[in-house]
Amino acid sequence: MCINAHTNTKNMKIFAILGSPNKKGSTAHLLENYLKGVRETHPEAKIQEIFLQNQNIGYCKGCQACKTGKSNRCVFKDDIYNLYQDFEEADVFVIASPIYWYDVSAQTKTFIDRLYGSDFNNMHPNKQVVLLSSYAGKTIEEAGIESAISVIKRIADFFGAKFEQKYLVGTSSKEYYDSPVKHNKTALNEAYELGKQLRLEVTK
Ligand SMILES: Cc1cc2nc3c(=O)[nH]c(=O)nc-3n(C[C@H](O)[C@H](O)[C@H](O)COP(=O)(O)O)c2cc1C
Repeated sequence: MCINAHTNTKNMKIFAILGSPNKKGSTAHLLENYLKGVRETHPEAKIQEIFLQNQNIGYCKGCQACKTGKSNRCVFKDDIYNLYQDFEEADVFVIASPIYWYDVSAQTKTFIDRLYGSDFNNMHPNKQVVLLSSYAGKTIEEAGIESAISVIKRIADFFGAKFEQKYLVGTSSKEYYDSPVKHNKTALNEAYELGKQLRLEVTK
């Protein structure tokens, strides 16, 4: 059953991470405008935003304790520990990351690595994944965004989630070379419109 009325999205959860170290950078502006659009269509949905740079989230140690031990979650209780349940139960997981070396940023990747320690049995069955990104390459080839998109898609598949929306914007066009995305009204508006188009599926 797919319902998009405001009243039916009351318990919907959007879990968003900002993987840029720049809290007011281009990627942050995309996320802000995307979520503005989401709020407009789904005012009752709970939106949680995590600025990864301010979190104490260590690397995955590859110990497999989350898969072989008593707990179904990671045994290292740093800042990600209290986010696992929110991530697992979220209807929508928004990844906002700049492109760093043809992939998402290290902050984003570290967070994703640690999601290995989330409880796969508790995962929302109809989770959606959204990717928002900014990059400086002049062309898609130069920026290397295809590799990042492909990785995120495969991660979504792994979690049984749907890779529903993506929006990536270049920051080095002639027009915006000296300006961050915050001056790119077209990009901000497109991110906002994409947020408005997010469809939340009611399963219960
Ligand atoms: C370490 C590092 C690696 C980068 N690698 C790429 C890259 O592979 N492709 C690209 O197009 N831009 C690359 N960039 C540029 C950023 O993606 C771009 O400036 C982005 O808009 C920054 O987003 P922010 O303002 O949210 O920090 C890189 C920047 C840094 C700092």
